[in-house]
Amino acid sequence: MSQKTALVTGGLGGLGSAICERLGRAGHAVVTTYTSDKGRVAQWREHMQGCGAPSAYAAQCDVSDWDSCAAMAEEVRSQVGEVDILVNNAGITQDSSFKKMSHEGWDQVLRTNLDSVFNVTKQFADGMAERGWGRIINVASVNGRKGQFGQCNYAASKAGMHGFTMSLAREMARKGVTVNTVSPGYLATDMVMDMKEEVRQQIIETIPVQRLGEPDEIGSLIAYLASEDAGFITGANVDINGGLHME
Ligand SMILES: NC(=O)c1ccc[n+]([C@@H]2O[C@H](COP(=O)([O-])OP(=O)(O)OC[C@H]3O[C@@H](n4cnc5c(N)ncnc54)[C@H](OP(=O)(O)O)[C@@H]3O)[C@@H](O)[C@H]2O)c1
Repeated sequence: MSQKTALVTGGLGGLGSAICERLGRAGHAVVTTYTSDKGRVAQWREHMQGCGAPSAYAAQCDVSDWDSCAAMAEEVRSQVGEVDILVNNAGITQDSSFKKMSHEGWDQVLRTNLDSVFNVTKQFADGMAERGWGRIINVASVNGRKGQFGQCNYAASKAGMHGFTMSLAREMARKGVTVNTVSPGYLATDMVMDMKEEVRQQIIETIPVQRLGEPDEIGSLIAYLASEDAGFITGANVDINGGLHME
């Protein structure tokens, strides 16, 4: 396929780096966002070059903040060029029962996981439509599909993403731009490995395939959704969760 430019938010994270790797291996120029460097950007860039990505660029950005996203988009346009593939991957958890959930804990998760999808997509969607080709992929979660104790904020943010996906997919379908959601189950990344061992084991027992997902399995799916071959898939939610949730 012809080379495109792909932007993955939160591409230095556990899942994000696997997505960047797959998109790089597919021959796309890869761009990511990061919140703080601490030597991670140079390491990421080196890794991307090792994967054969034609180029790798990282821009600092707080996806929960509109002005920061606007500045990042300007930087990416001037340093790399137009973005053809956007993966809204950055996200956080801040779990607690609803009884104990603070307004701040709600607000921070909604702003980082959901407002971010507006803040970032808004920067690039018009350009994709004008050029007649684009791919927007929103990384949600199995817990946005089924709900989870202690995750009213996270599940609401992830379910909200798919409402956004379906609506924008309808608006962009005639312009050659597809918009899809990917809803991963539990993956072997820091987000899950930071849980207490006992809690993690309990989760694994509930997964029919009896294991955590590999970030690369999600990366592979996202690289496919970003390809020419996936042009007839839009407005879809693709579950990839080892059978944890079936519909
Ligand atoms: N791991 C799982 O089991 C799992 C399952 C389902 C869905 N997901 C989803 O997959 C996505 C990636 O998760 P992960 O497991 O890779 O977690 P992770 O390793 O903690 O990575 C999260 C990424 O989000 C970025 N981020 C957080 N807040 C941000 C902000 N305000 N502005 C910009 N970037 C921000 C972080 O950037 P910095 O590192 O630069 O701070 C980091 O790269 C998330 O949306 C998560 O909800 C994960």
